[in-house]
Amino acid sequence: MHLFFIFLLHLLTLSCSIHSATISSVLTQGSSLFVDKDDRLGSPNRLFTAGFHAIGRNAYCFAIWFTQPMADGNRTLVWTANRDEPVTGKRSRFSLEKTGNLVLTDANRRFWTSNTKSSSRLQLKLLDSGNLVLTRVDNQSLYVWQSFNFPTDTVLPNQPFTKDTVLTSSRSLTNFSSGFYKLYFDNDDNVIRLRYANDEVTSVYWPKPWLVTWAAGRSTYNMSRVATLDSKGRFMSSDDLAFNTSDYGVTLQRRLTLDVDGNVRVYTLSQRRWVVSWQAVSTPCAVHGVCGPNSLCTYSPETGRTCGCMHGYKPKNDSDSALGCEPMFDFTKDQENYDFIRLPFVEFYGFDSYFSQRSTFEECKKVCLDDPKCKAIQFTFDQGYGSFVCYAKTLLYNGFYKGTPFITYLKIPKTYVPSYNHDHMVVNESKLDCSTSVVELSRAYDTKSESGSLKFMLWFSIILGAIEVMFFLFIYYITKAPSNTTTQTYLAIATGFKRFTYDEIVKASSKFSDEIGRGGGGIVYKGKLPDNRVVAIKVLHDAFQGEAEFLAEMSTIGRINHMNLIETFGYCAEGKHRILVYEYMENGSLAHNLLGANHLDWHKRFAIAIGVAKGLAYLHEECLEWVLHCDVKPHNILLDTDYKPKVADFGLSKLFHQDAPQDSMFSRIRGTRGYMAPEWVFNLPITSKVDVYSYGMVVLEMLTGRGPTCDQAIDYNDSVEQKRLVEWVREKVHNKTQIMEIVDPLMKDEFEKVQMKNLLKVALQCVEEDKDARPTMSEVVKMLLEADESD
Ligand SMILES: *[C@@H]1O[C@H](CO)[C@@H](O)[C@H](O)[C@H]1NC(C)=O
Ligand SMILES: *[C@@H]1O[C@H](CO)[C@@H](O)[C@H](O)[C@H]1NC(C)=O
Ligand SMILES: *[C@@H]1O[C@H](CO)[C@@H](O)[C@H](O)[C@H]1NC(C)=O
Ligand SMILES: *[C@@H]1O[C@H](CO)[C@@H](O)[C@H](O)[C@H]1NC(C)=O
Ligand SMILES: *[C@@H]1O[C@H](CO)[C@@H](O)[C@H](O)[C@H]1NC(C)=O
Ligand SMILES: *[C@@H]1O[C@H](CO)[C@@H](O)[C@H](O)[C@H]1NC(C)=O
Ligand SMILES: *[C@@H]1O[C@H](CO)[C@@H](O)[C@H](O)[C@H]1NC(C)=O
Repeated sequence: MHLFFIFLLHLLTLSCSIHSATISSVLTQGSSLFVDKDDRLGSPNRLFTAGFHAIGRNAYCFAIWFTQPMADGNRTLVWTANRDEPVTGKRSRFSLEKTGNLVLTDANRRFWTSNTKSSSRLQLKLLDSGNLVLTRVDNQSLYVWQSFNFPTDTVLPNQPFTKDTVLTSSRSLTNFSSGFYKLYFDNDDNVIRLRYANDEVTSVYWPKPWLVTWAAGRSTYNMSRVATLDSKGRFMSSDDLAFNTSDYGVTLQRRLTLDVDGNVRVYTLSQRRWVVSWQAVSTPCAVHGVCGPNSLCTYSPETGRTCGCMHGYKPKNDSDSALGCEPMFDFTKDQENYDFIRLPFVEFYGFDSYFSQRSTFEECKKVCLDDPKCKAIQFTFDQGYGSFVCYAKTLLYNGFYKGTPFITYLKIPKTYVPSYNHDHMVVNESKLDCSTSVVELSRAYDTKSESGSLKFMLWFSIILGAIEVMFFLFIYYITKAPSNTTTQTYLAIATGFKRFTYDEIVKASSKFSDEIGRGGGGIVYKGKLPDNRVVAIKVLHDAFQGEAEFLAEMSTIGRINHMNLIETFGYCAEGKHRILVYEYMENGSLAHNLLGANHLDWHKRFAIAIGVAKGLAYLHEECLEWVLHCDVKPHNILLDTDYKPKVADFGLSKLFHQDAPQDSMFSRIRGTRGYMAPEWVFNLPITSKVDVYSYGMVVLEMLTGRGPTCDQAIDYNDSVEQKRLVEWVREKVHNKTQIMEIVDPLMKDEFEKVQMKNLLKVALQCVEEDKDARPTMSEVVKMLLEADESD
């Protein structure tokens, strides 16, 4: 019986190579990978695969991708040999020739080659790092050629990005050919930059082009021009650009990609999804060229980024918004008959043919009317010059709503002026990234008729294949083999956010026996997951939204990832139960630590102030969905074993009281008395500045050791108590001799005076009554860090 199985197995392994995709570990000299057979190379750790990837009907690229497909079934490509010239799905092959040259051929035409040559024996291998290398057989650490030297739009961890490499974005989400954006080291000043370039214009947009390099934090002196992202998520470049990804510190699957929208992002793999853990440009419309010429970019968190044409212009190609718009009239005709329409808050960056700081508005208009090439003027009050300045534009690129004081006046024929609708500055709007056309290749072949024996072999192998599948299913069923190491690796990568059943929660919390806190709309219990992780389990009170809304919020919260924000491991939504599972923080809340006997020294307090600011700045500006916290207070700031702070309860504000009537005061007010911004009380628009205010109150509390008391009956129209603390501090600061009386007596005299004064200054700015006078959270981070470095 056993012998029979072994015999069968041998037969099957033989048949394997005839009919199904083979994954080999090396390609030897004189052999090829064939597109028809779906031949592949795999890395020893199985993380990466190289082979033919279909990019359309009968169109293929030779590429390297992450073996494991994403949750939506898509592959993530990390390298492509022939992105601009796909090959067909018949008889194309990737070969290592006897001469040592790698070539991609289709119907005897070469589509790509590595241009290598060697007299010694070579082999091609895909390494665990994702690098495809051509090495000598007698010395495998000698690379004759490697894909890491020719990146397309992605670099992997530990892949050096050098002066000889350039990342070029893809044309669109579905068209992998070279797009308009490049990331490169500038050979003149050694700075790493982002640039938009089409046939007509080039335009650098990162670092911000109006800043001198040192103001952008870059250095021009280091000629080595090399940058790398390491395995833990730290990026360092020779021009002093350095950052840590939001999930820095742990080895995870990451990639740095120049996306189709012109932004560079670092992505981290989490539950088979790519999560953004850093990005270069935080204002989506600030990327140059996104909408092509003559169009205007708008962004809102709800609708994302859209492109539109201005009045008098129409889309160049309805199915490709990146091509921009064109005028519906002829600019070279009839200079007499033009006039201007006003586009408030709009700026078009660059391409000025004229600049003056002395013209009047009439003179400025005349300059443009007299020049047939002029498309628009910008006439704006400039604080630097202290006067109005006039720019005339010959090309309209990079247009977006930048806010005051920018105003653009668009030159259009007089006949178009009456139909201009001020409320719809932009017409023919389109969502970005919508080109979904499929590439179809057809190429002539010298078709030979298939021989009879080939047909027979094909049928033979198909039948054998079917038997094989049944056989393996059978073997699997009787042995139930334990999962191998590869799947374990994947599991490790995929752990994290999870949907729990109510039974699991009951078990993890030992039937809700260990209560560790109350507030924020629920009761918190300590618990332990089956994998021994200690967790905090928050059971929300039941006045919440329906399940769909809850799940939508959870998917947002689940994607938020920053070292100063509490990590959410999962949730439970069963029947009436709405439960969140968080990481557990050993040292409890800041509130507890400020009151309790645990003495927080100055360094801890200062680090907490910076950490909380970083966490909130991330919520407000960096996560792709903007999140307001709305309830920042010492109870929601938790401390880990090293007293590093993490903000908790973010993203919850949207979960509460959605069904309460909108005009009711109670439904509107979130937050905790003592830390609430005046906007809540005076019914003003709620912006991220409410969190800035609360943050300021928390910092004042940390500095003074005095909390806004909450023991009176709640009365939302009265913010006397918190005003009293702010005013008390302001008075002491004003009266310079008393400044040291503010400091929490628990700290005695053990604090850094410069840091302390700076923190105090920042906190007082944060609690300004007028929300516009308060800094943003990222400005707060900057102010705190700058002062920290200068002393
Ligand atoms: C990726 O997956 C989504 C959703 O399944 C699909 O709409 C999209 O076309 C896929 N993208 C590519 C490039 O295949
Ligand atoms: C293999 O190549 C590397 C890189 O060129 C070299 O440093 C090393 O000495 C070589 N080893 C042998 C055994 O030739
Ligand atoms: C230049 O940058 C490289 C890579 O970051 C670094 O190793 C080197 O020390 C730098 N040189 C100087 C002079 O700073
Ligand atoms: C990244 O984190 C490390 C360790 O916490 C720190 O030393 C380094 O300064 C950080 N780098 C940046 C750019 O924040
Ligand atoms: C949108 O573009 C088309 C041409 O593509 C044009 O005919 C139409 O007038 C435009 N719509 C508006 C509202 O201007
Ligand atoms: C718009 O672009 C698509 C795809 O790139 C192309 O097939 C089509 O012909 C273009 N339409 C026009 C009017 O140029
Ligand atoms: C992809 O983009 C290239 C270059 O921009 C273009 O030539 C090609 O037609 C595009 N393919 C499709 C299917 O739109």
